[in-house]
Amino acid sequence: MKKFLAILLATVMTMSLLTACGGKDAAPADVASSEADAAVSEVLADGVLTVGTNAEFPPFEYVGDSGEPDGFDVALIKAIGEKLGVSVEVENMEFDSLVSSIGNKIDVAIAGMTVTDERKNSVDFSNSYYDALQYVIVPEGSEIATFDDLAGKAIGVQLGTTGDFIASDDVDGASVSQYNKAVDAVNDLINGRVDCVIIDKNPALVFESKFAGQVKAIDGAQFDFEVEDYAIALPKGDAVLADQINKALDELKADGTFDKLVEEYIGQ
Ligand code: ARG
Repeated sequence: MKKFLAILLATVMTMSLLTACGGKDAAPADVASSEADAAVSEVLADGVLTVGTNAEFPPFEYVGDSGEPDGFDVALIKAIGEKLGVSVEVENMEFDSLVSSIGNKIDVAIAGMTVTDERKNSVDFSNSYYDALQYVIVPEGSEIATFDDLAGKAIGVQLGTTGDFIASDDVDGASVSQYNKAVDAVNDLINGRVDCVIIDKNPALVFESKFAGQVKAIDGAQFDFEVEDYAIALPKGDAVLADQINKALDELKADGTFDKLVEEYIGQ
């Protein structure tokens, strides 16, 4: 009898234990997703996101009246930092050093940076946040109008940009002048030292209106350039950070902040 009671007791205990486990197991998806929500990249553990940019690329980044980097990208990454609950420190550096500085001098880079396979060897990218295209800036009256016209020309570019890769790798016989600042390339265009400048659409339009009457910006579609995607460059392999940044980006799109920034900084 004692033995029977003991077995009964053991059975009841086992059953209640199982039920308790069952209760926990009942919502495995919830548990998993709240754990994922709670995951914070080590990069953010100090409460600061250090962001590299190259503030020579209006309207995405430029040095504002206060002497600090400003522009669409700067406003966007600050809004992302707010969503992530960290403060954002922006470091202005040369465009060509951004990718190699991720993981040492800076945590991430936002710089109207085009996603390329080559860069993907060194960094990961967030989801893309803007479509871009290379444009060609020429002096008023220039006869350059198609890709074939670029052959053998003196072309100004910003060092290490996709415009540089087109001029240096794709155009036959071009002599390419690489500048650290895009505006220096445009100044040399005005001085007659180069025949054209290849640069992304929105900065090309800004320079066209800044130097109105001297230069014009030609749509890259006329040159059959490929559409490019801008994304935030991230340390390679930090899936948690990528997830957190992509989520913040999604939220900013859903709540209208993203469109407000486009309207404020880029227009159209
Ligand atoms: N989209 C081009 C690239 O990724 C040019 C970006 C230049 N950006 C800058 N902030 N200067 O190569």
